[in-house]
Amino acid sequence: VPFHAAHQAGIATPPQAHARFVALDLRPGVDRPALVRLVRLLTDDIDRMSTGRAALADPTPELAAVPARLTATLGFGIGLLRAANLLAQAPRWLVMGLPGFPIDRLQDRWSGGDLLLQVAADDPVTVAHAVRVLLTDAREFATVRWVQTGFHRGVGTAPTGVTGRNLFGQVDGTVNPTPGTPDFDRVVWIGPGPATPAWLAGGTALVIRRIAMDLRTWGGLGTNDKEQAIGRRLADGAPLTGGTELTAPDYQAVDANGFPVIPATSHIRLAHPQNPGERILRRPYNYDDGISADGSPDAGLLFVTCMADPIAQYVPVQQRLARADVLNIWTTPIGSALFAVPPGIQPGQHLGQSLLGT
Ligand code: HEM
Repeated sequence: VPFHAAHQAGIATPPQAHARFVALDLRPGVDRPALVRLVRLLTDDIDRMSTGRAALADPTPELAAVPARLTATLGFGIGLLRAANLLAQAPRWLVMGLPGFPIDRLQDRWSGGDLLLQVAADDPVTVAHAVRVLLTDAREFATVRWVQTGFHRGVGTAPTGVTGRNLFGQVDGTVNPTPGTPDFDRVVWIGPGPATPAWLAGGTALVIRRIAMDLRTWGGLGTNDKEQAIGRRLADGAPLTGGTELTAPDYQAVDANGFPVIPATSHIRLAHPQNPGERILRRPYNYDDGISADGSPDAGLLFVTCMADPIAQYVPVQQRLARADVLNIWTTPIGSALFAVPPGIQPGQHLGQSLLGT
């Protein structure tokens, strides 16, 4: 695994409190040389801002002084490779794209994009400023397709060592590979191999799904129904088969009537990998965009997940969930996008150099 620049830290570090995801569409005529200019600008901005220095020509350099664990991650959509005339270098999964799932109610305004910026920090002012700087430098090359803003219980408010909660109140983030372990590297980073375009070795695939959550109907459920839906206890996130949050669920256990203690349609039973090749890194953020026209909360989860091969690791899990997860009653995917995150770089290089050249 090569050196990971600040942009790869955006995948391997514990989630920051605030994140903004911006998808850009390239302007007509933006070709490979133009893309090299763009990624050089963005790389320099990210280098500076993630170490508390102002970007060149930053109109508000005062705001760069507090990096607050700032990371900025770039993802390349299939449209970027097309614009660069490099489709032959695209991994198969990026060419195929994700299949549709029966639960999807996808909207264009939350889906797709040629270039992803994932900007995250523990300070919302830092995020706002960094996004503004990056978008100013990208303006000549691209237009904004969508913007999604998410948050997490941050350092300072979350009791240390305690997993965060999503807007359903569930402990969310328990089962995940641990950064810095060989296991994490296998699940997340793309290894060299005959099926892998060489430029992507050390990079990853990033899927972002905007999933609306019906907080009103969920809120009307009793604790038991909520726990049956997920397969874990609300109070502490422990599996319904007992122990603490980190105890492994016992999927074989049955109750006095012979029914599985962790229900057949519960989220964790269906999301649990059926083989070691089905694991993913989850790095979701909550979103809350105020109140919808019908008076209900416009809220949910920016489900962000990374893995070396989305077709092998993510799609089968998502298909099982789409088929039977009881959580689907209260959740609806309304946006979806897929990106190739280029590998980390050495000082002096720019992001995407292994694809776009210099
Ligand atoms: C709004 C939608 C969702 C909510 C509220 C949600 C919530 C949760 C919660 C509370 C857990 C248990 C605690 C934990 O391990 O973090 C969990 C586990 C998990 N979820 Fe989700 N989730 C959602 C969507 C998804 C999607 C779309 C996928 C993948 C396609 C997914 C994959 C997983 C996986 C792999 C686990 C761990 C399973 C295991 O124990 O092995 N989730 N989720």
